[in-house]
Amino acid sequence: MNLEIDESRLVSQIETLALISDTEAPAVTRVVFTPTDLKARAWLKAQCAEAGLAVREDAIGNTFVRWAGSDLAAPAVGTGSHIDAIPNAGKYDGVAGVLGGLEAIRALQQSGFSPKHSIELLLFTSEEPTRFGIGCLGSRMLSGTLSPDAACKLKDSEDASLDQVRGRAGFNGKLETVKLPIGYYKAFVELHIEQGPLLERQRIPLGVVTSIAAPASLRIAIEGSGGHAGAVLMPDRRDALCAAAELVLAVENAARASAALDTVATVGICEVFPGAVNSIPSRVRLSADIRDTDLQRRDAVMRKIESAGQAIAGKRQVSIRSELLNADAPATCAPIVVEALSDACRKHSLNFLPMVSRAYHDSLFMSRIAPTGMLFIPCRNGYSHRPDEYASPEDIARGTLVLAETLAALAQ
Ligand code: GLV
Ligand code: MN
Ligand code: MN
Repeated sequence: MNLEIDESRLVSQIETLALISDTEAPAVTRVVFTPTDLKARAWLKAQCAEAGLAVREDAIGNTFVRWAGSDLAAPAVGTGSHIDAIPNAGKYDGVAGVLGGLEAIRALQQSGFSPKHSIELLLFTSEEPTRFGIGCLGSRMLSGTLSPDAACKLKDSEDASLDQVRGRAGFNGKLETVKLPIGYYKAFVELHIEQGPLLERQRIPLGVVTSIAAPASLRIAIEGSGGHAGAVLMPDRRDALCAAAELVLAVENAARASAALDTVATVGICEVFPGAVNSIPSRVRLSADIRDTDLQRRDAVMRKIESAGQAIAGKRQVSIRSELLNADAPATCAPIVVEALSDACRKHSLNFLPMVSRAYHDSLFMSRIAPTGMLFIPCRNGYSHRPDEYASPEDIARGTLVLAETLAALAQ
């Protein structure tokens, strides 16, 4: 089999998709079910149709692009990722796996390979938590990790329900139909940029992921007392933002105090009400993201944050309520996929690093229903979730080549 990746087509597709954005280049912002996301989806579906592939969408907008194998009754081999992008993001997060997956299928088709198992490219809905506060919406539902009832309770910042938002985007089917039947996939493999610096630092072109860290997130509401910034004396204050500031540092300290470098915690959202320079903040909403490769250690950090919150609330006479949005278990990648990826690297004489994914991915949830693995390519300085995220054409093409080889091995 002679696999040839069309590097210039792939890079030009990545550049074209990056222009479908709500922020000016090089930043990419593409939040799920916005007109921009729908435009990007339409563009992608046209690319897939041009490659002669059949496209179907489920009720939450997960998009399945199928190259039928010779045994239609056999479970498919899946690949794919996401094209939604957080505010002020880069071009490659998710996109490398979607367009790389499409290119891998095209390369396999052009090589004359004929799969026994169908090969299916998956575009997951809302891997990013931007709109509904919870990441991996599509894959959570495909795997049955998020029930239709729980999904119906999700709301965006404008108080629109998931059902309203998806309906406006043209997805009206019953959410009960989203969960995939047992055994739908023989295996699933996701190509992604590393989003960290290890491959680049160690000058290793590929990472074969062995496990995915466990993410959790909290929404924290702090309620104090507002008032005039000039007239309310300091001893009388119950400033919600000052309490929030202490809590933000407590979140950081809880992770820093961990014995392991794998423990990380971030407060990425802080909304202050009423947000006037001469008004004491009466309400603050924080969102915290806590992760670890070890579930017990991650949960211990969450307990520390909870008790820090109680102490701060008592000391500052404010109320602090936290809502757990998600607390997921880590995933171990399946030996069959790890082996297929490693063999594919060896076949092309490419060095690879077995590694942990500290970012979460739809593969975290796909691993609940299918043998799953991931392939990482380097990204410059390890930057991701920022406009200067960059992966070189050679690295993207190399990852795509190994992906194609792996899909072929799994699909025959
Ligand atoms: C995915 O985008 C993550 O935050 O890990
Ligand atoms: Mn991301
Ligand atoms: Mn991603």
